[in-house]
Amino acid sequence: MRFTALLAPLGLCASVFADGQAIVDSIGVISSITGELNTAVSSWKGDLLGALPIVGKSTELLKDINNGTKTAKASQPLSVLEAITIAGAIQNLQKSVNTTLTTIIGSKKKFDRLLLSPVILLNLDLEKDASDRLGAAIKAKVPENLQTVAQGLQDTLDGYFDTAIDAYKLFRR
Ligand SMILES: *[C@@H]1O[C@H](CO)[C@@H](O)[C@H](O)[C@H]1NC(C)=O
Ligand SMILES: *[C@@H]1O[C@H](CO)[C@@H](O)[C@H](O)[C@H]1NC(C)=O
Repeated sequence: MRFTALLAPLGLCASVFADGQAIVDSIGVISSITGELNTAVSSWKGDLLGALPIVGKSTELLKDINNGTKTAKASQPLSVLEAITIAGAIQNLQKSVNTTLTTIIGSKKKFDRLLLSPVILLNLDLEKDASDRLGAAIKAKVPENLQTVAQGLQDTLDGYFDTAIDAYKLFRR
């Protein structure tokens, strides 16, 4: 009797943590770090020391994407409303990713000069893979009739990453 009384609130806590809102929150964190990465790259003068915050934000971004995947995997299956709310958050993230990758492409010459472009390319590859894992984890929790929408959102993000990855592969010596 006492034992079940203890377990019930624990069960409640787990479902409160692992829900649509937790996924929306993780995507919000990813969007805001993506924005900070954009600021770090666009304000960078091209010096080696100034590149450190860029690497820092990039590492933080990877950690936050992976944390989002953990949150999505722990989630219960999502309701239609939750899935639509998450889709809205992903659309905002797409804008942020597009802006940041455009800035990163525009800064390639500066990275080239410091021989840092291969590091950026590696990070872009890692971030694309992490983003694919996050997308797959979310899609697995989305109602059947919205899975095509979820895949479409992921394909758009992948396209952005591919544009940036191609730009960094080009002219590689
Ligand atoms: C991971 O995500 C969860 C849910 O969004 C959040 O509460 C937690 O603070 C995050 N952990 C880290 C290390 O960012
Ligand atoms: C950003 O979006 C525009 C419009 O869809 C697209 O043409 C451009 O290639 C995207 N940028 C990147 C880096 O993918």
